[in-house]
Amino acid sequence: MRRARPVASNAASANAAGHALWPEGGAADARQAWIRAYRAVRAETERRGARLSAEDQVVQSMPDASPVKWHRAHTTWFFEQFVLAPHAARYQSYDARFAFLFNSYYVAAGPRHARPKRGLVTRPNAAEVSRYRAHVDAAVESLLADAPPDVLDRMIPVVELGLHHEQQHQELMLTDVLHAFSENPTAPAYDPDWRWPPCAARGNDCCELPEGIHTVGHQMPGFCFDNETPAHRAVVGPVRLARNLVTNGEWLAFMRDGGYARPELWLSDGWAAAAQGWTAPGYWREIAGIWHGFTLAGLVPIEQELPACHVSYYEADAFARWAGKHLPSEAEWEVAARAGELKDAFGVVWQWTRSAYSPYPGYRPVEGALGEYNGKFMVNQMVLRGSSVATPQGHARVSYRNFFYPAARWQFTGLRLADFPG
Ligand SMILES: [Fe+2]
Repeated sequence: MRRARPVASNAASANAAGHALWPEGGAADARQAWIRAYRAVRAETERRGARLSAEDQVVQSMPDASPVKWHRAHTTWFFEQFVLAPHAARYQSYDARFAFLFNSYYVAAGPRHARPKRGLVTRPNAAEVSRYRAHVDAAVESLLADAPPDVLDRMIPVVELGLHHEQQHQELMLTDVLHAFSENPTAPAYDPDWRWPPCAARGNDCCELPEGIHTVGHQMPGFCFDNETPAHRAVVGPVRLARNLVTNGEWLAFMRDGGYARPELWLSDGWAAAAQGWTAPGYWREIAGIWHGFTLAGLVPIEQELPACHVSYYEADAFARWAGKHLPSEAEWEVAARAGELKDAFGVVWQWTRSAYSPYPGYRPVEGALGEYNGKFMVNQMVLRGSSVATPQGHARVSYRNFFYPAARWQFTGLRLADFPG
């Protein structure tokens, strides 16, 4: 949780901190700059939600996904709980019951509603959540404008964390509504004009990392989550990393070669997970002999040149084994990305790594309830690097560590391969 300052741009962090969204340190109008950043992030949440009806917003299609209305309210509770309650002495909460409904997992912040039951909460309705957001927005903006300088200094890092937190939920709004819509037999489109971003030209090009000691983790000025720290040295290489993402065409070759039916390719837990009926990536459907994918634009034929997406870690691992290769470690990915060697590192699909999500050497969560943000999840999950088509602009960076359980595949998750020379 560091205060944002300008970040030197480079090819690897084109979709990273330093985006115009974030205020620059020392700006004469810092208060106004933070108010603008706050409004911009909060507006993006509402922009993403605006395509959805009140009915769309209440559905919870599986325990891992949350209703859009809940995302809109939970991100608001975050500011109420961690910015307004400690820093705005005269703040009147919108509704004291909302803390129970919209606290996600912060045990130190008090009791909370059961996650799998979020879809059963029809009230407050979507319109009242809008009023809740407006109430909190007015209070936060007023505090940013008028707080004494010492209070402002204490609250800005939490406001900044709250904005990055809200951006994470903006991505989840899209992945969760995609899952909800995938359960609708009419295959509705979230946005009929949604398209994959243009991807780099395909090929079997690799970059080679010779053996060396590299510093990984967050090293630049600017915001990062605590799980990206401390920066530390790691031995990397020799290893070759594919410059390109694995494509749908390559995934079809894996399927045609019986990839989903060959236990020798699969981790034991992955084989058990695949037994729930996996025969293709998530959201793929074979219609009259043609594979289609369910996307934010609805059901569309699979394009071979586009990146494989909605695959779990288990599937990515099996694919890599079938290809005679490996998934990169997160350190290998970061070193190659920092060198500008990876195509489509950001903004297309998150890329599974073979690294378990665990603390960096010397990592300590911050004290208090916000220490629960990342640290307590550092077991049994795998790290993904880069960012996806659903990630808001200005959110990701080269040291960013995303993480999910290895069976998860409702996120925009894909892969690139690694190989060891010799
Ligand atoms: Fe959250």
